[in-house]
Amino acid sequence: MEQKKVALVVGARGVIGTNLVEHLESLPDWRVIGLSRRGGVDTARVRHVAVDLLDPDDTRLKLSGLTDVTHVFYVAYQDRPSWAELVPPNLAMLVNVVDAIEPVARGLRHVSLMQGYKVYGAHLGPFKTPAREDDPPHLPPEFNVDQQQFLEQRAAAGTWEWSALRPSVVGGVALGNPMNLAVGIAVYASISKQLGVPLRFPGKPGAYDSLLEMTDAGLLAKATVWAATSPAAANQAFNITNGDLFRWNELWPKLARWFGLEVAPPLQMSLATVMSGKEGLWKELQATHGLAATPYADVSSWPFADFVFGWDYDFFADGSKARRAGFHEYVDTEAMFLTIFETLRRQRIIP
Ligand SMILES: NC(=O)c1ccc[n+]([C@@H]2O[C@H](COP(=O)([O-])OP(=O)(O)OC[C@H]3O[C@@H](n4cnc5c(N)ncnc54)[C@H](OP(=O)(O)O)[C@@H]3O)[C@@H](O)[C@H]2O)c1
Repeated sequence: MEQKKVALVVGARGVIGTNLVEHLESLPDWRVIGLSRRGGVDTARVRHVAVDLLDPDDTRLKLSGLTDVTHVFYVAYQDRPSWAELVPPNLAMLVNVVDAIEPVARGLRHVSLMQGYKVYGAHLGPFKTPAREDDPPHLPPEFNVDQQQFLEQRAAAGTWEWSALRPSVVGGVALGNPMNLAVGIAVYASISKQLGVPLRFPGKPGAYDSLLEMTDAGLLAKATVWAATSPAAANQAFNITNGDLFRWNELWPKLARWFGLEVAPPLQMSLATVMSGKEGLWKELQATHGLAATPYADVSSWPFADFVFGWDYDFFADGSKARRAGFHEYVDTEAMFLTIFETLRRQRIIP
């Protein structure tokens, strides 16, 4: 029987980390240690450690006993208001983890890095689509690129390999995350329903018609583990996508239907503005429907939703490199959204 692998999931409470921990927990040959500031509830195969990764001393102290880690899955993230400000904390956290774990985990085999389409400049404006892994770089600042360069250098001097995953916007169930589009749509729709108004697409006019793709958090988890354990994927980056494309003009009415809502023509508005001050309404909605007492702040990734709904340009990458290397899973994006909404309903987060 294969030796047990020990995963260190760095950022275990994020939208990506939560789903990665769940996936690893479902695999018989893994044990999991999850890192985050808030910690979590341990299970038979998952142990949570609360640590501030921005603090090198705390990181070294808390990671000093984790001698049996074989794979690091880096999915932590520190939000900042500008692209330049994202670089120092996000690079520092990765450096602090590698500095702390490398000397103690003598059996370390792999460090996996979660990236995104920012590598392609997708956040800056219209970019070349489909984006490919070997597209030429753009000017800094870009923390994903700095993180990858750091890993490449450290891996070259070490005894472990690396891989990097580049998902599109990620769809998954998690709370308290600055970037969670599906939860944002679910709460926006639930409040629209409570107020008796139709569901309007709030993005830029052109964004309703542009071509997009998403990445399901469960699919991403499988791809992440595949890349970290497949020799064919070592020391490379991979776009990971659901495998289908969509336009909001087709998908939006289908999402509205799930909530029992009519669709009215798009109306550009900032969700960060119109959804602020709706905490009282959220509490009312929770009381009316006997929902869990989820804090409004935990479901309010409005600036991120505004960002995504502002893309009046095509937003997709070529996912074929991962397929050629052996990863063949796909997810239907409409089904992904509806499954997330159903889970949120089952968990009594939305009515
Ligand atoms: N979400 C998306 O749609 C998306 C799409 C493409 C790419 N990505 C990329 O994927 C990566 C992860 O994103 P995400 O959306 O999953 O992030 P997230 O939901 O914000 O999760 C971040 C994780 O990092 C932990 N963390 C943050 N600061 C920490 C600190 N100082 N010490 C310890 N833990 C800390 C958080 O837990 P605590 O808050 O408890 O510390 C949380 O577990 C990012 O690089 C992001 O750019 C995300």
